[in-house]
Amino acid sequence: MAMRFLLVACSLVAIASAGNFYQEFDVTWGGDRAKNLDNGQLLTLSLDKASGSGFQSKNQYLFGKIDMQIKLVPGNSAGTVTAYYLSSQGPTHDEIDFEFLGNPSGDPYTLHTNVFTQGKGNREMQFKLWFDPTEDFHTYSILWNPRHVIFMVDGTPIRDFKNLESRGIAFPNSQPMRIYSSLWNADDWATRGGLVKTDWSKAPFTASYRNFKADTCVPSSATTECASNSVPSNGGWWNQELDSMGQQRMKWVQKNYMIYNYCSDLKRFSQGLPPECSIA
Ligand SMILES: *[C@@H]1O[C@H](CO)[C@@H](O)[C@H](O)[C@H]1NC(C)=O
Repeated sequence: MAMRFLLVACSLVAIASAGNFYQEFDVTWGGDRAKNLDNGQLLTLSLDKASGSGFQSKNQYLFGKIDMQIKLVPGNSAGTVTAYYLSSQGPTHDEIDFEFLGNPSGDPYTLHTNVFTQGKGNREMQFKLWFDPTEDFHTYSILWNPRHVIFMVDGTPIRDFKNLESRGIAFPNSQPMRIYSSLWNADDWATRGGLVKTDWSKAPFTASYRNFKADTCVPSSATTECASNSVPSNGGWWNQELDSMGQQRMKWVQKNYMIYNYCSDLKRFSQGLPPECSIA
């Protein structure tokens, strides 16, 4: 299905991008609260009482393996949200989300994930992390190919959203997406449902990004076909899926670090869980 779509409807170019924030991203929000440092090797976003900040990729992607190293707001980050996600545009957009919900010093961050297809989300899964994400940079990856969307943290898979189109469940495989990130204030809901407010005496709050690395397909008018081009050169992310080791590690994370799974929220989905929840 997906392969036919690619051959018929669109041609793609495989692109490997490494690291330069000047070349790959535009600051879209917050003015000089977003800073390119070290010749584009490091980017920082900050948030103060007046505004947050954000950036987006210049390119749009249709599939890719995208790694970003992020160091989150240290100290008392309660009320702040650092969002890092892929999204297309419009009312039936697709979206693949990482969001980091801040917390008072010493309390763990929550890593929130979601997948939107055709404008519909409601697929939240939340995790604690097995390290302090404010102490150092860690790699947050999205593997997006025609059969899977796999979320990874330092190479460990935490979530696998499978292509179940054959069972009538939409999968993001036709709308090109950009990468977006932003740091903003959400103290009306982010920390304990809004009970813990942002402490503005600690502002500005800063998150840092480095080592952006992406093997992607970019829609284009050229005739290069993405899959055949990229598979040999980059270790085959196009066909990648979790092997038994990867599945075991994901199980370990989900057993020990998952704090919310929409697929077990029977109260919320009292009319019946979303269909993908009952397909293993
Ligand atoms: C903040 O820390 C508390 C205490 O460990 C935890 O229960 C809560 O889930 C955390 N909240 C967020 C938004 O990370």
